[in-house]
Amino acid sequence: MHAYVSNGRRGPWGPAMTAVVPPPGPPTPQGEAMVAELRWIHDMIRRDLGIALRLADEVTAGAPADEIRRGLTSLASQGPLWQLKINCLRYCRFVHAHHGIESASLFPALRAANPALGPVVDRLEADHRTVSDVLDAVEAEAAGLGGPDEPAVRGRLAAALRRLADELLPHLEYEEEHISGTLATFTGPTG
Ligand SMILES: [Fe+2]
Ligand SMILES: [Fe+2]
Repeated sequence: MHAYVSNGRRGPWGPAMTAVVPPPGPPTPQGEAMVAELRWIHDMIRRDLGIALRLADEVTAGAPADEIRRGLTSLASQGPLWQLKINCLRYCRFVHAHHGIESASLFPALRAANPALGPVVDRLEADHRTVSDVLDAVEAEAAGLGGPDEPAVRGRLAAALRRLADELLPHLEYEEEHISGTLATFTGPTG
């Protein structure tokens, strides 16, 4: 029942688990709708991260001097730098909010509905803390776009976004894989 198998990924809680914990009962229509919503939100998070990474690559690849001056001007006129800044700030707020709701409501409900999920939820909560730190770094760099430290900020922002992809994308996948079975048994938001 608790046949966890290490996938070799290390964390402060010990080896990560790959075996999926059996759900505590049969799926319900409400629960299946909640799983579909979770996957829909995650797909938006994946898509928008791709857009932010592409924008960051574009502005990082921009030539210095004239290109930067034009970029700084466009920051106030809906140009690519402006889009990157606004997209990053909005994106970070959205992911923070999604994780905040999961940590405050969904995770306690999952623990109550299926105590065997405890180690999985422990790992998901640890992931949220890690992702939160990287989101803060992305926000800080995005806020500096258009400031006096161009173009160094662009490079740091692109690096922070790549770090975010490295942490966030595996988290989304692990979460979907390991909580969907139990979430599908829910009859309401609290289980
Ligand atoms: Fe999450
Ligand atoms: Fe999530």
